[in-house]
Amino acid sequence: MNGERGSFGSQLGVILASAGSAVGLGNIWRFPTEVGRGGGAAFILIYLGFIFLMAMPVMLSEFVIGRSARSNAIGAFQKLSPGKPWIAAGIMGVLGGFLVLSFYSVVAGWTLYYTIQSALGQLQGLQQIIDNGLQTTDNGLQTTDFAQAFTAFVSDPWQPIICLAVFMLLTHLVVARGIQHGIERYSKLMMPMLLVIIVLLVGFSLTMPGAAEGIRFLLKPDLNAVTPDVVLGAMGQAFFSLSVGLGCLVTYSSYFSKETRLVKSAMNVCIIDTAVAVLSGFIIFPTVFSVGIAPDAGPGLVFITLPNVFALSFGAMPIVGYAFALLFYVLLLLAALTSSISMHEICTAFISEHFQQSRHKAAAIVTVICLVLGCFCSLSFGPWQEVTVFGRGFFDLFDFTVTKFLMPLGGLLMTLFVGWYLDRKLVEQQLTNNGRIPVRTMRPLLFLIRWVAPFGILVIFLNELFPLFL
Ligand code: PHE
Repeated sequence: MNGERGSFGSQLGVILASAGSAVGLGNIWRFPTEVGRGGGAAFILIYLGFIFLMAMPVMLSEFVIGRSARSNAIGAFQKLSPGKPWIAAGIMGVLGGFLVLSFYSVVAGWTLYYTIQSALGQLQGLQQIIDNGLQTTDNGLQTTDFAQAFTAFVSDPWQPIICLAVFMLLTHLVVARGIQHGIERYSKLMMPMLLVIIVLLVGFSLTMPGAAEGIRFLLKPDLNAVTPDVVLGAMGQAFFSLSVGLGCLVTYSSYFSKETRLVKSAMNVCIIDTAVAVLSGFIIFPTVFSVGIAPDAGPGLVFITLPNVFALSFGAMPIVGYAFALLFYVLLLLAALTSSISMHEICTAFISEHFQQSRHKAAAIVTVICLVLGCFCSLSFGPWQEVTVFGRGFFDLFDFTVTKFLMPLGGLLMTLFVGWYLDRKLVEQQLTNNGRIPVRTMRPLLFLIRWVAPFGILVIFLNELFPLFL
């Protein structure tokens, strides 16, 4: 085992790094899409329930495991329950870390491409519209153009892979530098930038003509849209968005100091993450409604609908359109990067500690493995469209394995581990920093960890898996 472990240097670093892991494509890309499908505010309410009753207890459990063991996701279980099968939770987590980084980086690579395109003022079609003036803007026509451009790009064998590789390299460079000089330093730089951009974009989008329509959509609960599928989706989204269930937060919290307040930090991360998700809705819906496009545009929302919306709404003011589009994609890129770093760290910490390798070497191994797996995922949108395993292309397969299987199962095991297996005293010591800070909500928190979260996850998990075997 490497004698010297890194640690976060400040409480702000702890919060920004953990919030950086949480705030990602999940908030800005997936959340608004799910809100669009799931009945606006009705979905948001259900989502909030899952965040605070189920995902937050899993986060706290991960914090307790990580900080008491001070080890990577697998090592932590080896230390706290030697020779016991609980280690399965750690193994699934590290495996999930490799898979999630591989498919996530593909979408992050697309984001990088769109960022560069918008910086060059060449977001497909935008330039054309600006050149030709507003009269050529026809809703249907433009959407098709953007959709074609997007499909052509993602199915190209090379371009998305090059973007994926560049993105992976950026992630690698941060992780290889270590905890304080890498992860903490860059989180402290990128997270404030991200928050400023969000506020700017919300400001922009609220002043758009027709913005009120979008806000009404976001805030009006449409109960008819809430199907069982939507409820299941809300839990998946809550887990993915808070990065729980894979041991990512076990790993991060193994670098927390003994002064770090676990409950307060978890609450802060949940609040920041939810605020960013909802604010992204405030960026996207008013803009989308201002040009009268259907909000439930599906996953193409940020790569097809939004470029179209940018072009349509800012055709008369190209410079504003340019700024809005560029800021938006930079935001997405920053969010993706702070999350991918944390996925990478799950694997790097494990390899470096378990196989006693230097951080640089461990990080390089992870980068190469995930790059290869990432290429598989990327190709599944193009030349390997027909290649399927269990009826799914690689991207879908990895996504499915992580979000529908490893995350809920990992979350279940971790809450059971902390709620029922670990010594109650040890758990309370962790939550209260050895009795130095009173936690008035201790009883309800333990109730959530012992009963509500595991039971809720189990019900939903079985519900999701059941149809697969019918
Ligand atoms: N929470 C991140 C997001 O919302 C994704 C993530 C999942 C990060 C798992 C780390 C681990 O995009």
